[in-house]
Amino acid sequence: MKPCARRPKVILVPYPAQGHVTPMLRLASILNSHGFDPVLVTPEFIHRRISPSVDPAAGAGEVITFLPIPDGSGASNSVPRDFFSIEKAMEDVMPVHLERLVNELDVADNGVALMVVDLLASFAIEVGNRCGVPTTGFWPAMLATYKLVAAIPELVREGHISDCGIPQKESEIRRNPSLTTQDLPWLIGPVNARKARFRFWTRALHRSASLRWLLVNSFSEEEDKAEIQCFRDYPTIVPIGPLTNPSPLTKNTSFWEEDATCLTWLKNQEPDSVIYVSFGSWVSPIGRDKVASLALSLESTRRPFLWVLGPSWREGLPHGFLERVRSRGRVVSWAPQVEVLRDRAVGCYLTHCGWNSTVEAVQCGRRMLCWPVAGDQFVNCKYIVEAWRVGVRMAGFGEREVEDGVRRLMEDGEMGERLAELKERMMMAKANSRKVANMAGFVEDLRRITEDDSL
Ligand code: UDX
Repeated sequence: MKPCARRPKVILVPYPAQGHVTPMLRLASILNSHGFDPVLVTPEFIHRRISPSVDPAAGAGEVITFLPIPDGSGASNSVPRDFFSIEKAMEDVMPVHLERLVNELDVADNGVALMVVDLLASFAIEVGNRCGVPTTGFWPAMLATYKLVAAIPELVREGHISDCGIPQKESEIRRNPSLTTQDLPWLIGPVNARKARFRFWTRALHRSASLRWLLVNSFSEEEDKAEIQCFRDYPTIVPIGPLTNPSPLTKNTSFWEEDATCLTWLKNQEPDSVIYVSFGSWVSPIGRDKVASLALSLESTRRPFLWVLGPSWREGLPHGFLERVRSRGRVVSWAPQVEVLRDRAVGCYLTHCGWNSTVEAVQCGRRMLCWPVAGDQFVNCKYIVEAWRVGVRMAGFGEREVEDGVRRLMEDGEMGERLAELKERMMMAKANSRKVANMAGFVEDLRRITEDDSL
């Protein structure tokens, strides 16, 4: 590592998916405002989508540099959404290119002060270590999910899971909300890939042992505080979230073009009437059969709805569906989600419980009808439904399920109040001294190491 002059360079490596790049860009923006020079490194297939969004109107010195590394996808313009093909690119192709880039940046100008690495892109931790650059981790989701992953050695030791990650008994791991072995992120999805997913997580955990800090895109709840520093010695947990403000340095961080016509459509709907349906960027695939059932269930509510559904998934819609619901339903490929959620026509949000979507819904005061699909979404759902009580879980995809869910949401007279309180807690976490102190403490520590070349 070279000594750093005025604006120390920080390389940020997100996991290459929408729900990870967006918060990492927000962090880049914060680091920029603290006097660092952020460089966001993504595989080519992401870079091609986000780099044109850089806002040229940003002031002097307010810059995020976007740099691509090859990922083996060639000139393909599609964004892979398959977990294992992304893992293969990260393990087999990207490390050598990232290492070259870090070494190039480290000799240029001031050198590289720090790398910030998404724990799901843990290959970059090893690259940082090889290049001698201090590395901090970034966890884009809830602290609770990180705790489940960090508890792997303990779960094996206590016999909850085998050393391949397979549950040995259905047991409660944490209380309030109750998290059981069934909520462990690697168990969700095809059964034959559970061991491979477990290897992914144990590898990330193993690599994270060399981290100095872990920045978490979450706010700590009361029960977290006591635990934060004691459940693992390293890395030091720094809750800095939720990161919600759009980066002033970029115009738009969407990988896909937003269909803004749905905002005009929303303006013509009654307040609190519309069901907004989106399963996030990563998994529209709730499955073709479920697309058909959900369509029928939405149709039978007789309520207006706005559904984000990619073109290839529309093939699963029942015959004549789009024509029948034309007067009260809109289906779009990608929506300006935050603006949609802000619109007063939206009454509730049928969601996959992705962490970014959850935070956005709370910020906009929207009740959630939950259908988690993968990874951390089941844990987020438990918090939404059981701990915060700002949503209900949909029972299934039968014809009455959406209507029943919407009714349960609307009948709960105190849910609006709880949402407002939760929003307040989230916003306070962003603004209050704890968060400022966390970030400031981290930055101060960072400054010390950037000035101390001996580290
Ligand atoms: C995944 C996990 O589900 C999530 O919990 C983890 O923290 C990150 O990786 P994803 O499935 O993409 O993320 O969901 P989510 O975290 O909710 O992020 C989706 C983002 O895409 C949100 O910021 C949302 O506003 C945006 N979005 C989604 C749009 O802008 N338009 C859309 O039409 C749909």
